[in-house]
Amino acid sequence: MERYVIRGGNPLRGTVEISGAKNAAVAIIPAAILVRGVCRLENLPQISDTDTLLRVLTYMGAVVRTLNPSTVEIDCTNVHIDSLPEDIWALTRRIRASYYLIGAMLGRFGAACSTMPGGCNFGVRPIDQHIKGLTALGADVRVEGGFIQARAKSGRLKGAKIYLDKVSVGATVQVMIAAATAEGNTVIENVAREPHIVDLANFLNSMGADVRGAGTDVIKIRGKASLHGGSYALIPDQIEAGTYMAAVAAAGGSVKIANVIPKHLDCISSKLREMNVEIEEGDDFVLVSREGDLRHTNVKTMPYPGFPTDMQPQIGAVLCCAAGLSVVTEGVWDNRYKYIEELRKMGAQAQVDGRTAFIQGVDRLSGATVRACDLRAGAAVVIAGLAAEGTTRVEDIQYIERGYQDIVGKLRALGADIRCVDEPAEPPVVPSWIAG
Ligand code: UD1
Repeated sequence: MERYVIRGGNPLRGTVEISGAKNAAVAIIPAAILVRGVCRLENLPQISDTDTLLRVLTYMGAVVRTLNPSTVEIDCTNVHIDSLPEDIWALTRRIRASYYLIGAMLGRFGAACSTMPGGCNFGVRPIDQHIKGLTALGADVRVEGGFIQARAKSGRLKGAKIYLDKVSVGATVQVMIAAATAEGNTVIENVAREPHIVDLANFLNSMGADVRGAGTDVIKIRGKASLHGGSYALIPDQIEAGTYMAAVAAAGGSVKIANVIPKHLDCISSKLREMNVEIEEGDDFVLVSREGDLRHTNVKTMPYPGFPTDMQPQIGAVLCCAAGLSVVTEGVWDNRYKYIEELRKMGAQAQVDGRTAFIQGVDRLSGATVRACDLRAGAAVVIAGLAAEGTTRVEDIQYIERGYQDIVGKLRALGADIRCVDEPAEPPVVPSWIAG
């Protein structure tokens, strides 16, 4: 079984290059289905989620060429949705973003089929707003036997005015993709404003779409008959950058986090400053340093520009080492504290009550065998392991590799003692005071 073995205690020093944004990539790759021609994507992160989606497109008849590790060309001229091989569904079930294939297939073919999506389990993850949006665009959408099937009633989607009842990243992306080649104009109100929403809009526009207002709470789209090929470089990953910032806060040291958009990190920087972490901003980097003791703070997650829910586990891990009582409130998901149980195995003092976690900082965490319960929960236990005394073994690392490009290599280059090893599962070590 592959796992990470971390010997904690080394401060982090040096420079880390942030990869392209995962959540932009997983929206943009399906959106490429709308493009009749070659679309070249630069700054694509090398993670298993993007790999899975590129394989799905290949099964659909796309030609994917890798020009260098972070640049691919996707030619969707000959994609189809007829007689797709069974193997494709094992891939679409693995990831959340596979439901964007529905909007893209509907936009291109007026019909669509995919499985219900997989992805991290944060409690119930409804898709009612996706269905509401696609239905408003004239699709008949059915969910049956684990599959989503959709058909444009008049053969092609038609622009519409849509109000989302919930600020949803997924529903905003879904409707933007579907409406880009619908007939007529679409207005989507109460949309998400995350950086990757703006990135998707910029991608679509560079392929000939007309999408305006991304980054505000109303998006207006003039449907185009089809999109053409082009070249697009993805934004850097806000959450990957935030994860390394949190790692420096927990382990101490001083690291230049390069290839970032500092504005996207404002809410994370503010919280870390409250915790006694120094942050200097450059044009495309932040310099993060922590020498003194960490102070407690309170965090509430919210849609952008609020503190991102995808940084909640990582900041939770840092707060475990911050003097005093911190209160974390999860404002997006019902069940995003599974990592707390893992951190308790490392000596963290934390209690969860519904959507609130109360974390009393301890002087030092201690290494233990822990699980990555999901992608960001996995990042949290890695961060805790870097700060802990002794050895931490992280199991189920496949979740981490869904969203972090070469996390082991990047941390090692900063001086962390972390290795990926293939070793058999061990029986739990009995502490000497019990064994004796
Ligand atoms: C995306 C991110 C995920 C992040 C989340 C919030 C991707 C691939 N994933 O997930 O990492 O944690 O945004 O920033 O980009 N909701 C409904 N009905 C819907 C859709 C959502 O009620 O049809 C609710 C959800 O239950 C949740 C809230 O809306 O409480 C926000 O969810 P949403 O923004 O859609 O998250 P995802 O797009 O799934």
